[in-house]
Amino acid sequence: MKAFVVCEVDDEFLCEVGDTIATPHDEGDVLVRVDYSSVNFKDAMVATAPSRVRRVSSLVAGVDATGTVEASRDEHFSEGQRVAVHGGSLGVGRDGGFASHVYAPTRYLSPLPTSLSTYDAAVIGTAGFTAMASVMALEDRGLELGAEVLVTGATGGVGSQAVTYLARKGYAPVASTGSPQSSNWLLERGATRVIARDEISDRAGQVLASERWAGAIDCVGGVTLQEILRSLRYGASVAASGLVASAELSTTVYPFITRAVALVGIDTVKASHVTRQRVWQALGELAPLVDFTTFVDRVIGLHGLPQALDDVRAGVIRGRILVNVNDVTP
Ligand SMILES: NC(=O)c1ccc[n+]([C@@H]2O[C@H](COP(=O)([O-])OP(=O)(O)OC[C@H]3O[C@@H](n4cnc5c(N)ncnc54)[C@H](OP(=O)(O)O)[C@@H]3O)[C@@H](O)[C@H]2O)c1
Repeated sequence: MKAFVVCEVDDEFLCEVGDTIATPHDEGDVLVRVDYSSVNFKDAMVATAPSRVRRVSSLVAGVDATGTVEASRDEHFSEGQRVAVHGGSLGVGRDGGFASHVYAPTRYLSPLPTSLSTYDAAVIGTAGFTAMASVMALEDRGLELGAEVLVTGATGGVGSQAVTYLARKGYAPVASTGSPQSSNWLLERGATRVIARDEISDRAGQVLASERWAGAIDCVGGVTLQEILRSLRYGASVAASGLVASAELSTTVYPFITRAVALVGIDTVKASHVTRQRVWQALGELAPLVDFTTFVDRVIGLHGLPQALDDVRAGVIRGRILVNVNDVTP
């Protein structure tokens, strides 16, 4: 089969469409016929050399995929079942979704709710799963309907979907973006207002800023997360999932010990079966209220991946890039 392969051996680094064979790691692995994959920030980190996240020298990239079960020995997954495949070491330490077929252990598989097509589920992908998991983390900590929630990296995969899911659930998302030309797009996605990256907080130089946000969803990290912590309201939480700007975090303890704020980590890689079920169910319930096509920046074939990965690195994507893995046109 054709696949997008990343290979780093000695000083040679290749990142290209090639021929390979889908192979199971373990006896229990399920074979999935892939309809779509999507381009995530992590894919750009895998398809680079040296890579901080890639765990093997050669693999089919792609941290997620959606499609149909083609062969399974597991009683919970039968032939023809529609699934999303993501998490674990998919596309990082073992072959991933940028191919027509992928083998995965059952813990990487989530059955799709009937309200979601494999196209919709690929638009959601790892990014949308993270967005919904972030919204639910804030809800679990008592977020009140109508509350203003800051979303950073708002035009990105996680950010744009977080904006829409918050809006559809009755909260008031405020989109922080470095792409002011996309303000109208963000308002159309459900943002109540749009602010610049440097407008998250005030009182520069003081330990704490004004109490602004009833909650926040951050995939940017670094100074952005630091400023969010300074400006959360008393008792509020930030759901932190990413490091687009930086993996560093410098803060004081004051937000925690004087405003009782919480820094809630979001991880989708090792998310439990129960969490995966809960999040996909919530996505399925919201689906009738969401037009998933509006998130799609473009749909590409396998040969479109090098350009798409460059665009992700350059931060010039709006929403999501879908990969039709069965399109192998050069
Ligand atoms: N924890 C998990 O399990 C998990 C799961 C999925 C993703 N993630 C992480 O979440 C992050 C976002 O992923 P994604 O797929 O949404 O990425 P993405 O589509 O590339 O979006 C990232 C967005 O961040 C903003 N941005 C880019 N460079 C920036 C910079 N230097 N400073 C501040 N903002 C910047 C841009 O939005 P604006 O132009 O609108 O500001 C960009 O669209 C990544 O770090 C990814 O690894 C984590």
